[in-house]
Amino acid sequence: MPGERPFVHAFSTVTLDARLASRTGFSKLSCPHDLVRLHRLRAKYDAVMVGANTVLVDNPSLRLKYVRGKNPKRVVVDGALRTHPTHRVYDDTAPTILITSTKAAEHKSGLIEEFKNRGVRVLKIEPVEDTRIPMKRALQLLLQEGISSLLVEGGGRLLWSLLREKLIDRLSITYVGTVYGAGPVLFDGEGHEGPEAPLFRPVKVLLCPCGREVHVELVPYYDTSYLRG
Ligand SMILES: NC(=O)c1ccc[n+]([C@@H]2O[C@H](COP(=O)([O-])OP(=O)(O)OC[C@H]3O[C@@H](n4cnc5c(N)ncnc54)[C@H](OP(=O)(O)O)[C@@H]3O)[C@@H](O)[C@H]2O)c1
Repeated sequence: MPGERPFVHAFSTVTLDARLASRTGFSKLSCPHDLVRLHRLRAKYDAVMVGANTVLVDNPSLRLKYVRGKNPKRVVVDGALRTHPTHRVYDDTAPTILITSTKAAEHKSGLIEEFKNRGVRVLKIEPVEDTRIPMKRALQLLLQEGISSLLVEGGGRLLWSLLREKLIDRLSITYVGTVYGAGPVLFDGEGHEGPEAPLFRPVKVLLCPCGREVHVELVPYYDTSYLRG
């Protein structure tokens, strides 16, 4: 693995029922300690990655706050090209890479030009089906762009597309003591059948000083055949 693609660390803050946001899109879950945890990682990694829905719903800048350091590069995975150059993630406070499909780029060449005029680096990748981008290929290209470590902040569909290709190397989850009952979930995709699902082993568990959160860091085991004998 090392040398072929960046190291991938996923960080999410979720409710007890693993919701990233409520059904209306409310996602301000983190306490001040959790924000510092997240931004410490932003300062440490070469780039921060999010999916198209997170840009559309939250319009994040992904800048560094709460800790000192340099704004990380930003990467948006937007296979169908639904985000727009006016979203905050494409502002000039840090370099941004847009990863899209060759199919969407062909159909929306004018929009691609707008992104480029704004200084956004556009990587076009041959999709595997419709506009779905093979994430291993995307990560290989990011390594060529000088990104050797990546913090993925969600949402759930992007996290699933990384997990299905066994590309998550470390997972940090903050569980907030609330239940939303509906809304986007931590990993959202076609799902595993069961036995082939990866196993995540906790390596650090922290009761947050706020008293309402538990922060867990985990490492994955993708080959779980030993469990099946
Ligand atoms: N609590 C937290 O820590 C946290 C963090 C981040 C986000 N959120 C919340 O999560 C929600 C968004 O999550 P989400 O699961 O709906 O969306 P998401 O993962 O942010 O974005 C999903 C979209 O990105 C594109 N995409 C992702 N992987 C792709 C791939 N391999 N190839 C091509 N396109 C790909 C697809 O766009 P197309 O459908 O157009 O193909 C997909 O529908 C928001 O409500 C946000 O507030 C919460």
